[in-house]
Amino acid sequence: MTVLVGLMSGTSLDGISAAVVRFNESADGIGVELLSFVSRPYAPPQRERIAAALIGASPQEYARLDFEMGGWLADAAVAAIAECGVARADIAAIASHGHTIWHDPPRATWQLGNAAVIAERARLAVVSDFRSRDVAAGGQGAPLVTIADAMLFSSRDKWRATLNLGGIANVQLLPPGGALESVRAFDTGPGVGVIDAVVRTLFPALAFDVDGALARQGAPNTAVVDSLLRGAFFSEPPPKSTGRELFTPAYVTALIEACRAAKPGCTSEDIVATATSLTARGVAIAFEKFIPEPVDEVLISGGGALNLALVDALRTSLSKVVVPFENFYFDGEAKEAVAFAFLGWLHLQGRAGNVPNATGARGPRILGSLTPA
Ligand SMILES: Nc1ncnc2c1ncn2[C@@H]1O[C@H](COP(=O)(O)OP(=O)(O)O)[C@@H](O)[C@H]1O
Ligand SMILES: [Mg+2]
Repeated sequence: MTVLVGLMSGTSLDGISAAVVRFNESADGIGVELLSFVSRPYAPPQRERIAAALIGASPQEYARLDFEMGGWLADAAVAAIAECGVARADIAAIASHGHTIWHDPPRATWQLGNAAVIAERARLAVVSDFRSRDVAAGGQGAPLVTIADAMLFSSRDKWRATLNLGGIANVQLLPPGGALESVRAFDTGPGVGVIDAVVRTLFPALAFDVDGALARQGAPNTAVVDSLLRGAFFSEPPPKSTGRELFTPAYVTALIEACRAAKPGCTSEDIVATATSLTARGVAIAFEKFIPEPVDEVLISGGGALNLALVDALRTSLSKVVVPFENFYFDGEAKEAVAFAFLGWLHLQGRAGNVPNATGARGPRILGSLTPA
């Protein structure tokens, strides 16, 4: 039995997720138990600093933000450890994804959140920088949650898809039993990122469309959605990954302006509904074009699974059973942090963490770098 802390700061910029997880490998497979989960929202000044760094900052600002973010990540880890019921001495390591500042495979990928700072503050070993090795090996550096989904969350007897609705949406196609050779995964396009950005622009007091209430009060503009879905990303065959580099503030501004130009009386709620429809139909297109596997159940996780308008739109656009991940396992908001804890667990054993047919890398690689306690 090994306990690790997984740390994730996702593209939606909502905050830091920290999960303390116990892994237990036996002849029956690998058992996973979520011991505690905390999600610490960024204060607006923190979020603004990261958002500014995504667009461009000075070398001084990048260096400082790297160190400060290390402190924020350590604080989240310490808070999760306080709730987990396991002594710090029994925790093997912290596995930290950090926050992606630039993801541009095959050229580069870069996450902030200095591992030495985390190790000092939390007094634990840290495994970090998970994406670089896969990109260096010719991969997309994403999705990296695939191996966790295959080894921990596949069905014994049927094909299953797991769909994480974070800032970006990604899907994993898991064969019965989770055999890695047949697993595929890719980013389908925007998750809640575009919806969040539209909401933050049109309703500055809100960080996201709570429960999907705004989208429910509006009507999507189908013509605008159709035209955005003709964008190159949606027809590019997998493996593919994306980040905020494609679904940028300019993309969001263009969406808002297209809605207003197409229908003069359109309300802000209509625009949120349009972003929500774009997100759901982006996922549906990925299934239609690129997923021939006989999947009937789709397990949804990530914060977007709490957006009920998005979930309804998905149920309408996808001809599949859409089930919340937590109906089968645990709180779906914790899933990505758990996946990074699992990648850390694999690293400590010298086992590969990428799935080459998901990332496109030349082969399996041990992911991450170790900073000793
Ligand atoms: N109650 C809720 N209602 C609607 N959306 C929600 C709710 N809670 C979280 N979300 C959405 O989930 C997002 C965060 O999801 P998360 O899985 O953490 O994404 P990421 O990994 O990209 O940070 C928020 O920005 C928001 O869009
Ligand atoms: Mg998040």
